[in-house]
Amino acid sequence: MINYTEKIPNNVDLGRDRVLQRALEHWQPAYLSWWYDMGPNESHNFEVYLRTAISVEPDGWAQFDYIKMPEYRWGIFLQPRDEKRQVNFGMHKGQPAWQDVPGEYRSILRRIIVTQGDTEPASVEQQKMLGLSCPSLYDLRNIFQVNVEEGRHLWAMVYLLHRYFGRDGREEAESLLARRSGDTDNPRILGAFNEPTPDWLAFYMFTFFTDRDGKFQLCALAESGFDPLARTCRFMLTEEAHHMFVGETGVSRIIQRTCEVMRDNKIDDPADVRALGVIDLQTIQRYLNFHYSVTLDLYGSDVSSNAANYYTSGLKGRFRETKLEDDHILRDALYPVSEVVGDKINTKQVAALTALNERLRDDYIEEIQAGVNRWQRVIDEAGIPFRLTLPHKGFHREIGNFTGHFISPTGEILTEEQWKAHEFEWLPSPKDYAYVQSLMSGRVAELGKFANWIAPPVKGINGKPLDFQYVRFN
Ligand SMILES: [Fe+2]
Ligand SMILES: [Fe+2]
Repeated sequence: MINYTEKIPNNVDLGRDRVLQRALEHWQPAYLSWWYDMGPNESHNFEVYLRTAISVEPDGWAQFDYIKMPEYRWGIFLQPRDEKRQVNFGMHKGQPAWQDVPGEYRSILRRIIVTQGDTEPASVEQQKMLGLSCPSLYDLRNIFQVNVEEGRHLWAMVYLLHRYFGRDGREEAESLLARRSGDTDNPRILGAFNEPTPDWLAFYMFTFFTDRDGKFQLCALAESGFDPLARTCRFMLTEEAHHMFVGETGVSRIIQRTCEVMRDNKIDDPADVRALGVIDLQTIQRYLNFHYSVTLDLYGSDVSSNAANYYTSGLKGRFRETKLEDDHILRDALYPVSEVVGDKINTKQVAALTALNERLRDDYIEEIQAGVNRWQRVIDEAGIPFRLTLPHKGFHREIGNFTGHFISPTGEILTEEQWKAHEFEWLPSPKDYAYVQSLMSGRVAELGKFANWIAPPVKGINGKPLDFQYVRFN
């Protein structure tokens, strides 16, 4: 059970470690001041119908109530320890899982934790302004739920830094509050987390594509031989599922509304669609291309000795590592990666150990494709002959083997001039952004009302009706 009587709710018996508790209580006000500055704009007095974890057990972990976000019970929740757990892959396979940081892996582990931790506050910063233009109270509540949970994910990583990394861990925890998404001098660590999230279509795409990268990274870290990291990531994953739900259903509802308008008015020209105040499917495709390609970069280089190292050391596993049937060492295994040779994209086999980033990216792509297929069904059911597609893996990439090449969404290798001539058929243009933002100029806040450009969801949150007061503005 989670102890909510303490200043910092936790299920790690924090009260027994006074030094750690004091260090975290010292970080807490700095965190809150970050939230006041960088959390959802002008929201501090709102009472929001939020879920809060009450236990880490699968059946009883959430409770819903109105809460002011700065008073959210951020805390430290780890999945309970399995005494028999082992390191399940790499050169230490078969050893008992580590309860402390092995000295030789200290700096790599710290880097892994900091990199993961940095994404959490970054997305809150990226989404800071969106509450001012929400399409409904239901959606407003959802973005706030995502934001407070990303805040808690930061807590999860900061706990590990404070608990296991001493003074340099505490310094890293301070730096996590100092970097800012998109800042020129002190940006967030990873590219996609410095891109703006300027409108709600971008928000839903982000939670579908980029939060799902978060899921896959957390799944790989949940396999870690460093047990406290594995246990904290397992619990974070239960929260992540809701973020991806918000993204997938958000895009789906936008598609649905657009299709209704197209069908009812018998139109298919994007200009006619826009004239009726909904988002044309072509623009949705361009947003998809952008968020997909930028997120693919987050997995890193196709061939990576760092990734091999993390694996061999037992620090970061594969997606569903323990369910895979092989030696879990990857001694002789091969894996295909793409490379551009002249005017062709070739596939070559490399040591699987060095291709673990690519493998995780491929696992991710499979899940993404399934989600895009579900969106396609909404279009098909409306009888509209439009296909939403994932662009080629090499399209618009800045990390890995495709870097520096100009590849079309269908996978042709182009010259820079050819590519540039089509750029805004493939990626959102300034005009697309301006149009989408023009639809989202203010907040839709009447009970049960939804903006014209998005369909209502199938059901409300926690069994509540769609016209429930999900947010009280005070
Ligand atoms: Fe997160
Ligand atoms: Fe998330």
